[in-house]
This record gives sequence, structure tokens and C-alpha cells, in this order.
Amino acid sequence: MDKVLDNFFVFEGLDGSGKSTQLHLLGDKLRSRGFNVETTFEPTDNAIGRVVRQVLRREIVTTPQALALLYSADRHDHLYNSDYGIEKKTKEGTIVLSDRYFYSSFAYQTVQLDFDYVKAINNYPHPRCVIYLDASVSLCMERINSRGDVKELFEKEEYLKCVKENFEKAFRALPEGVKLIRIPAIMNEIEASELVFNEIEGYINL
Ligand code: TYD
Repeated sequence: MDKVLDNFFVFEGLDGSGKSTQLHLLGDKLRSRGFNVETTFEPTDNAIGRVVRQVLRREIVTTPQALALLYSADRHDHLYNSDYGIEKKTKEGTIVLSDRYFYSSFAYQTVQLDFDYVKAINNYPHPRCVIYLDASVSLCMERINSRGDVKELFEKEEYLKCVKENFEKAFRALPEGVKLIRIPAIMNEIEASELVFNEIEGYINL
């Protein structure tokens, strides 16, 4: 049986899909209803996550396999660290919202590596719901280009096309206890956030 962590909700989507905006809108809405909420993200800003970001900025060059292992190590710490781990927080009654989780590894790392390998190194509990910001590759590329920053490792049209297909494969394999909430990224931000809130409300279990 796949393990599911109660009160853990994950936002997924391509770079530039608007998932961070939706995550913060949901966090604000839940807090205004009196819930204790923490927002977080992967790669994290803890020690291992900082190494991952150096790889993304091309300051460190490594292999796709080593990068997949770094994402996984960062995730293990994110989940189980005795100070700030997600598992501990959710068990204490906090709702945790994460910007990305292992579905991103299933989508991005499997462009270069075997799905079974990436799955094997990500043997972690599922969240209760996955909120997927479903955006076209061209919309995401437009947003990435308009930021004007130096492009990170995976911010390329051809790569993101494969990533989008891989997200679909990963979601087809979701276990029964995990709810997928698909949000069209072209939707008005406020309407989208109401939709997300209405969908997840029934899955809060404090
Ligand atoms: P993120 O900071 O979420 O990028 P953005 O804000 O542009 O959406 O993630 C950084 C990059 O890391 C992004 O290209 C997706 C990639 N990534 C993976 O390849 N595997 C993973 O497991 C995770 C969590 C992220």
C-alpha cells in the first residue's frame, strides 16, 4: 500500500505555470479560516537544496543521475528532518503546502533517466492532494522569457515538452487515496484559487 501523509498538499506544474501564486493564495485563504499553515518548496533552501540550485545555475556540473539523487536527498531531509521535517509538522496539526515534490522528479529526471530508477530512489509518502497547474509549454516559455533571468538547466522548450508528457504519465499512476486537482493555468487567478480551496477543503483532516 502506498503511504499518504494527511494534511500535506503539493502544487506541481511546469516552470512558469503559476503554481507558486496559487500556493500562496491557498495558504492565505486557509490561514484566514483559522488553520495553521506552512508553505515550503523544493528544491529547498536547506544545505542539499542549495547544492541542487547551484547545479541548476550551472555553477556545478554533474551527471543526471547524481542530480536525481541530490533531489531525492533534499526531499528526504525536507520530509524527515527532526527540526523542520514535513512529517513532524503535519503530525503536529499543521497543514503543509509544498511547491513541488517527487512528481517533479518523475517528470523532469525521467527525460534523461529510467522511470523505474527515479521511482525507486523516491520511495516517499504521497501527499493527500496534488494540485496541478496545467499550462501549455508555449505559455510557460513566454513567462520564463519575460522574467529576463539567465535560464536554468531545464528551462528549454524541447525539455519542457517531455516534462509535460511525463507529468501526465506520473498522474496516471497515482494511487487511489491521492486526489489530483487539475487547474487550467489560463484561468483567472482568483477563480482558480477558489476552485482549489473548494476542492481541497474536504481533504483536510486535522
Ligand atoms: P523551481 O524553483 O520550482 O522552479 P520554478 O519556480 O521556475 O518553477 O524548481 C527549480 C527547477 O528544478 C525546475 O526546473 C524544476 C526542477 N526540479 C526537478 O527537475 N526535479 C525535482 O524533483 C524538483 C523538485 C524540481
